[in-house]
Amino acid sequence: MRRGSIAALLGLALIAGGVATAVALVPTWLPEDASQQAGRIAFTFWFVIAICIFIFAIVAAVLVYAVMKFRVQEDDFEDGPPIHGHTGLEITWTVIPFLMVTAIAIVSAIVLSRNDAQAKDTLRVDVVAQQFAFTFSYPDARNVTSPVLMLPKGRSVELYMRSYDVIHSVFVPEFSVKEDVVPGLVTQLHVTPTRLGSFPLECTELCGLGHSLMRSQAVVVEPSAFDAWLKKQEKAAGASAGGTSTTSTTSTSTTSSTTPISPAQAGLTVFNSNGCSACHTLSAANATGKVGPDLDNLVSYAKTAKQPLESFVHQSIVDPNAYIQPGYQKNIMPATFGQSLTKEQLDHLVTFLVQSAQKSGNK
Ligand code: CUA
Repeated sequence: MRRGSIAALLGLALIAGGVATAVALVPTWLPEDASQQAGRIAFTFWFVIAICIFIFAIVAAVLVYAVMKFRVQEDDFEDGPPIHGHTGLEITWTVIPFLMVTAIAIVSAIVLSRNDAQAKDTLRVDVVAQQFAFTFSYPDARNVTSPVLMLPKGRSVELYMRSYDVIHSVFVPEFSVKEDVVPGLVTQLHVTPTRLGSFPLECTELCGLGHSLMRSQAVVVEPSAFDAWLKKQEKAAGASAGGTSTTSTTSTSTTSSTTPISPAQAGLTVFNSNGCSACHTLSAANATGKVGPDLDNLVSYAKTAKQPLESFVHQSIVDPNAYIQPGYQKNIMPATFGQSLTKEQLDHLVTFLVQSAQKSGNK
């Protein structure tokens, strides 16, 4: 091989590599890291990208060089000379990719095992996915529930995820972690948030009509703010249960000193913490969902269904398919939804819906 050819190939490789590097580096491909896991995933990503750029540069250089240098003459219809193997070349193109793939496998294995490794004081959060909302609850704090995933910064967190209906998937791009939520299984997802802020948490498995609305937030706060939030939620939960639920608690009860709140107010809490607003419109709860019936119209729906308002609302929650308002579909509202509520929560929710429906009905 002549020195000129090597120089030409090298030049082409540098150009191709430069262009590919610019494409990799100039646009922002990954969101800014917000977890330990994201940093490791980003490392793996760039490690693989660097190898790809290296291979691309070689292939592009040889391709362009061959096209320019070995172009056939216009009247040349002959085949090129036959080649029968080249041991050196074959060893080269086997050994180099083998080393690269092995390196990627080793890096990935280390990253995966580190990303899944829980710390000693891991915080447990239970996640329930259903069409079309996520609910997060905190077993260490009397199972208080929240429609957003509140997390303390810097602490190892393990999500235990369950689905009431179909397959969903939890994904927070800034955390670089994702896991399916499968009916009949409890899947786990580990994350250690490192940056304060509010990040989109979305369902990434096409799960039905309201899939695109199945979004929530992962909110990372300072550990002290997280503890304060958890205490406040516990207090509110205690109050909405009428100050009676003092069972199975790992922290001291704070229910006795709170002012009692009305059943309708408690019902609003149930409405908000169970993701109802993802699908329903209800002005009393500032909800604007469009998947299911507009709950401001419950009075007229009950009339159409020829039922008294209260029993209509009750039935629609525990047995959503019993009556389907024209214009909406069967089996969209989870049939198991009612089972996820205690009797008290259900009563509060019904009271709240009936009262707010009567108010909007009188407007
Ligand atoms: Cu749940 Cu898509």
